[in-house]
Amino acid sequence: MSDSAEAIHNRLAELAAPTASSRVIDLGCGAGPTLLALSRVAPEATLIGIDRSAEFLRQAQQELHGHLGSVMALAADLRTPLPCGDESADAVLSYNTVECLPDPEHLLVEIARVLRPGGRVVLAHVDFDSLVIAGADADLDRRVCHAFADDVQGWMDHADGRIGRKLGLLLARSALRLVSVEPLLTWSTELSGHAEARIGEIRKALLSADKHGRGTVTAAEVEKWYAAVQEADRLGGFFFSELAFIAVAERPSDGCLAGATAPPNGVLPGHEDRWASGRSAAA
Ligand SMILES: C[S@@+](CC[C@H](N)C(=O)[O-])C[C@H]1O[C@@H](n2cnc3c(N)ncnc32)[C@H](O)[C@@H]1O
Repeated sequence: MSDSAEAIHNRLAELAAPTASSRVIDLGCGAGPTLLALSRVAPEATLIGIDRSAEFLRQAQQELHGHLGSVMALAADLRTPLPCGDESADAVLSYNTVECLPDPEHLLVEIARVLRPGGRVVLAHVDFDSLVIAGADADLDRRVCHAFADDVQGWMDHADGRIGRKLGLLLARSALRLVSVEPLLTWSTELSGHAEARIGEIRKALLSADKHGRGTVTAAEVEKWYAAVQEADRLGGFFFSELAFIAVAERPSDGCLAGATAPPNGVLPGHEDRWASGRSAAA
């Protein structure tokens, strides 16, 4: 069984390859699981978590109390310019956050701006549209998974359940140089650990969607599905898997951003206004 929620955070930290002198930013850091994995790889690196949830930032700081290097928790909306200086980061990571942004290309312009030449971005996302659950009958399993993938939950501005499969393309079309795309499959034959947490999250999200009139699956159907999942687990017929994609890109070491006749500061044609408003802020 491959059911470790930690595996993906460890892989992201490994791909970011921080050293003691690195400055690493986690976009949409939540309660800090990726920052914690980074801390294990480079206990003296400077770690910067950005999120708009003050509560998550507090939890992330708590999580990192043993980190030897500097830790910064910055409250910011990722739809606006990042609160970080030009070429100020060695690596930028983000996990399960990009789907919430209506304009992910804007974030990539910002990532290119804050990365130093030769710096690396590691973006990862579960492709929620390809969740696999064997619990209820095929039709109900399918409808539940797709309703969850499409649901714009209360804390989100946007949802794109297919963002995982698009990450490589997003980076390839950006000013950065795409290095690799890899899949990471998490699966379980038992309703426990990560599978149990994700199924609980799906149930909660879809009950809330129905309550707020945006659901395509009724509350009664959600509960019927949940009961069937539990029964399948009891009878040994349960299966869960989720596929995440991890895409890595680099800012070319000559400082020139690919795919554009960009000046050294990294402004892309058509994005001058965005860059201008972001350049004054410094982490
Ligand atoms: C699914 S959580 C992932 C958190 C974390 N990366 C993890 O692996 O646990 C998405 C995170 O993105 C943050 N987020 C969503 N939209 C945001 C925005 N526009 N600006 C800043 N943070 C945002 C949420 O507050 C949340 O912490």
